[in-house]
Amino acid sequence: MLDQLQEIETQTLRRLESITDSETLAQLFRLVLGDKGTLKMILRSLGQLPADQRPAVGQRANEVRIKLEEAFAAREEVIRAQELDRNLAEGAIDVTLPGRRLPMGRIHPANQALREITAIWAEMGFQVFRSPDVETDDNNFTLLNMPPHHPARDMWSTFFTTQEGVILRTHTSPGQIHAMRAFAPEPIRVILPGMCYRYEQVSVRHEMQFNQVEGLAIGPGIRFTDLKGTMAAFARRFYGQDRQVRFRASHFPFTEPSMEVDVECILCDGGGCPVCKHTGWLEIAGSGMVHPVVLRNGGYDPAKVSGFAFGMGVERSVMLKHGIQDIRVFWGNDLRLLEQF
Ligand code: DAH
Repeated sequence: MLDQLQEIETQTLRRLESITDSETLAQLFRLVLGDKGTLKMILRSLGQLPADQRPAVGQRANEVRIKLEEAFAAREEVIRAQELDRNLAEGAIDVTLPGRRLPMGRIHPANQALREITAIWAEMGFQVFRSPDVETDDNNFTLLNMPPHHPARDMWSTFFTTQEGVILRTHTSPGQIHAMRAFAPEPIRVILPGMCYRYEQVSVRHEMQFNQVEGLAIGPGIRFTDLKGTMAAFARRFYGQDRQVRFRASHFPFTEPSMEVDVECILCDGGGCPVCKHTGWLEIAGSGMVHPVVLRNGGYDPAKVSGFAFGMGVERSVMLKHGIQDIRVFWGNDLRLLEQF
């Protein structure tokens, strides 16, 4: 029995020396010191020994157990350290390398322009008024002085819905009706930014979704010269302080008189280029004095108040500013373009 114990001790110590991973170490531990291990078996069989041998064998067995337990612990420590070294070498991290740059999202150029335009109008005292994208035919056309079958409706290719009289707004102008009905008979100074929808074949010049910023000012004694001054002030703030501005007579069913606002081409300084189609001027907004019929539809008395309105394309303004020729880039989501803004 004593020989057996000696054998277990020498064998185990020798095998321990050659073990280099914790998995094998645990196996050997189970084999010798585990519940059914060789040493445990001996300890358990002590009872069957003749009584005079018991103390000597028992003592020796305990010595061997303690010695082996210590040897296992020491070996485990060595292996742990080796494994850590190995892991560090394999997954080597060079902490002196510069960090990887995280890709960062940014605000879409159309939304950037929308914010910039909104900020300029806010500085001039216009507050934002929200109105729905899904509109009634009445608000989009009839109440803006275009009754059913009025030929002017053809200026806007319309998305109809399966519900009679419900459409996607073709311009932000129906917001005028909402704003007037919310404010009347009080004065108004609002802008109405938002998405418009047109049933267009998408092309270099046409998109079926784009943003407009509509404006509306109503109150006693508002005159055409107020409109001109306001539009010129906006154009210079947005396109540059030195820019020339000009007004051209035009026609919209919801304004009378109506005009279009042009700014001197910012790409060629008015000299003529493909973007301004060699005219030297960029068209930036439609506008006019709110038509008496529209004022009345909004709940105002045209004998007491007057007002002006305007509408401008947001994507269009970005195209003009940066000489972008293809409107499809706004929904194209090509990062090579978006990352330039
Ligand atoms: N709603 C017009 C359009 O989409 C733009 C416009 C023109 C708006 C004149 C106005 C305005 O408020 O007075 O083409």
